[in-house]
Amino acid sequence: MNYFIRFILCFILADLHRFYCDQSCHASRNAQSRKNHLLNENDDNQNHIELKQQCNVEQHHTPIDYSQMVRLPGGSFIMGTDQPVIRADGEAPERSIQIDPFWMDIHEVSVQHFQEFVHRTNHITEAELFGTSFVFESMLSEAVSANITQAVAAAQWWLPVPNAWWKRPEGIDSNVSDRMDHPVVHVSWNDANSYCRSIGKRLPTEAEWEYGCRGNRTGRLFPWGNKEMPKGRHHMNIWHGTFPTNNTVDDGFFGTAPVDTFPSNQFGLKNMVGNVWEWTADWWSARPRLDQVHNPTGPNTGTDKVKKGGSFLCHKTYCYRYRCAARSFNTPDTSSSNVGFRCAADDTNEYVVP
Ligand SMILES: *[C@@H]1O[C@H](CO)[C@@H](O)[C@H](O)[C@H]1NC(C)=O
Ligand SMILES: *[C@@H]1O[C@H](CO)[C@@H](O)[C@H](O)[C@H]1NC(C)=O
Ligand SMILES: *[C@@H]1O[C@H](CO)[C@@H](O)[C@H](O)[C@H]1NC(C)=O
Ligand SMILES: *[C@@H]1O[C@H](CO)[C@@H](O)[C@H](O)[C@H]1NC(C)=O
Repeated sequence: MNYFIRFILCFILADLHRFYCDQSCHASRNAQSRKNHLLNENDDNQNHIELKQQCNVEQHHTPIDYSQMVRLPGGSFIMGTDQPVIRADGEAPERSIQIDPFWMDIHEVSVQHFQEFVHRTNHITEAELFGTSFVFESMLSEAVSANITQAVAAAQWWLPVPNAWWKRPEGIDSNVSDRMDHPVVHVSWNDANSYCRSIGKRLPTEAEWEYGCRGNRTGRLFPWGNKEMPKGRHHMNIWHGTFPTNNTVDDGFFGTAPVDTFPSNQFGLKNMVGNVWEWTADWWSARPRLDQVHNPTGPNTGTDKVKKGGSFLCHKTYCYRYRCAARSFNTPDTSSSNVGFRCAADDTNEYVVP
């Protein structure tokens, strides 16, 4: 179907709008990517851009469901740390940042909610388009593992697994039927962005995310304080035991945990650290911009997006990144079994408190 017709449909038909706009907006962000040929080789980029803008305007009017969100009051907070654990990641320096009030999802987006989005919009994830996604080796069945010859040079325990996607997180012989309340994984930044926009939300900026993580406490490592296990109680899903060979599953989970597991922080947010990495809106730079002090949005452009919070695979000896100040990155089209997201929303006077 040509883009002019899609464009008109986007204007006129509310339901169809969601479908076409979502697919097109999704495609437009990947014009340079290797999956381009799978979509439409003759796409007119200008049409794409216009369509994308139109989509964003339309989506802005979607009434937001605030029922699984909390309103964060904003104000100033200290972002970053002067005691960086992983200095190369740009955790330092500490800086005072001003944040306007905004809303944030209490939970990471679950498989259930992502499935509803897919049913509503027919969204196709990048993992599906690429045909592979990254899975931690020890989560695979022997059958799937034996089929894969190519390892990731930088980290041998990550394998590009054919047919791994959100519904089949460990490849063809896996499913999510007992994980509907777990965070969705194998979603790229582009997928996450499409999801949030389709319901009138957006990804949080890195600063908003870190403000939410810190939960009104200054200079702490974790959302609840400095102790990994206050009163001997688990507060997050990370790797216990010897990485990468022996996960003792002390916290109760080998892979992901349901998004509602563990206590919430002072803001009411759950699983800000551990469980899955969470995409943020910002482009990555290893040197944080110090000129932005009010609602910072990070670098103007880049090749990678910032992810925050660490995952169920993080271990102190290997990836001590389940701290609020920690940060990492991936290209916006990357997906893997330990990266998910949650959405944020602007504060407006139009909301109805549930
Ligand atoms: C292994 O690879 C073969 C050939 O590509 C494929 O037909 C089969 O489904 C794969 N099996 C698993 C468990 O991935
Ligand atoms: C889904 O996976 C679970 C756990 O691996 C398995 O017990 C179940 O049979 C699978 N269900 C289907 C429909 O394949
Ligand atoms: C944040 O902490 C301050 C000082 O302890 C307290 O007065 C304020 O109510 C807290 N705000 C929230 C939103 O928890
Ligand atoms: C894993 O570590 C635990 C705790 O140190 C130990 O008891 C257990 O034997 C180890 N398992 C393996 C397979 O090495």
